[in-house]
Amino acid sequence: LRHFPFFQDLEDEDLAKLAPLFLTRTYEKGTNIFREGEAGEELYIIKSGVVKIYRDDEIRDIILAIFRDGDFFGEMAVLENEQVRSASAKTMEKTVVYYLNRRDFVALLEQNPKISWRILETALDRLRKANELITDLTLLDVRTRIIKMMLRLTEKHGVNQKAGILIDLKLTHQQIADMTGTVRETVTKVLLDLQNQDFIQIKKKKILICNLAEIERLVETS
Ligand code: CMP
Repeated sequence: LRHFPFFQDLEDEDLAKLAPLFLTRTYEKGTNIFREGEAGEELYIIKSGVVKIYRDDEIRDIILAIFRDGDFFGEMAVLENEQVRSASAKTMEKTVVYYLNRRDFVALLEQNPKISWRILETALDRLRKANELITDLTLLDVRTRIIKMMLRLTEKHGVNQKAGILIDLKLTHQQIADMTGTVRETVTKVLLDLQNQDFIQIKKKKILICNLAEIERLVETS
């Protein structure tokens, strides 16, 4: 557990005590871990894999976040009294999670203020990002929204390569549409355009941003 941000501040002795509480569970790709509206009894930390957090209606999904190893989720329903899951969670790859029940999670927080701080910090950072997203959805045109989303994805999923920054996620055009409040056809058109202008390349369903400085300028001047 040591290399997870969540546990970084703990003494070895405390960590050793906690380790047995964390059980693992494996989900195949495309499995719902839970659905919006369900009662929530467990917190999850991703050991390996990728999970999307989304809300849906009959017509489309709205993807709120994509998490990977080291990230936690499911804390809201567990910590807020009488609240249900605020969104659904589904694996985008085969995923292994650690899970912790409510009682053990609350005890963990009570006994380890540093972990409570980390959870709070992360929750506030997510709120900040959600505010940005609301602003983008309201104010920006769709091309700029897609570019900004790619830049945002590099923060968590970016891998430096010789040719640029690779977003290490296999994304469909539909999923990018679900993250940017548009339709698949529009994503296809914008991505093709960005490829023709040599701003990005698509490699095995992953986006490579070839010229980060240029693309950042695009957003600033829009
Ligand atoms: P919970 O409501 O239990 O179940 C859904 C989880 O998704 C929620 O806890 C958070 O962990 C996570 N979540 C909900 N909304 C967002 C958001 N806007 N950004 C990132 N994560 C979120």
